[in-house]
Amino acid sequence: MSEYVLADEAATTAFGERLARCTEPGCLIFLRGDLGAGKTTLARGFLRGLGYAGRVKSPTYTLVEPYDTPRGVAYHLDLYRLADPEELEWIGIRDVLDGSHRCLIEWPQRGLGILPDPDLTVELEMDDRGRQLTILAYSMAGKRALTSFQYKS
Ligand SMILES: Nc1ncnc2c1ncn2[C@@H]1O[C@H](COP(=O)(O)OP(=O)(O)O)[C@@H](O)[C@H]1O
Ligand SMILES: [Mg+2]
Repeated sequence: MSEYVLADEAATTAFGERLARCTEPGCLIFLRGDLGAGKTTLARGFLRGLGYAGRVKSPTYTLVEPYDTPRGVAYHLDLYRLADPEELEWIGIRDVLDGSHRCLIEWPQRGLGILPDPDLTVELEMDDRGRQLTILAYSMAGKRALTSFQYKS
């Protein structure tokens, strides 16, 4: 487990960018934290880190957005509006999680019982210094990413 203080939006974006470059295809990341904590901001940085230059919008209504990046297809999900974990089947979650794509999921607790365990979880909390970020690895791939992230910082 590692903790970081992110002073402003640029720091959150930069964190996402740097984290992306330490992940392998197939890496599944859960993004936790309240509304406005910075999950989508971090995801935007992450996709930029993979070389995606276009616009990244919040998938609040579409639930899932695919991104064709120079480092492979990546998915960004926001399950806030998911009424039932079963709905994940309808949005093609099997293809999203086939092990070959990086995937970021906001509000993963809404998909409990359907989503597999993540490789990494990132938790964002508001505090008077900006945001406090806690990152945890749950798998070998997650540990490799985190070690590489720490080594490069
Ligand atoms: N480290 C930070 N310190 C202060 N404000 C931040 C920081 N990171 C992001 N923000 C701001 O907080 C808001 C986060 O919004 P968003 O990323 O959409 O949150 P979420 O997806 O968690 O609901 C944005 O207005 C962004 O500018
Ligand atoms: Mg969001």
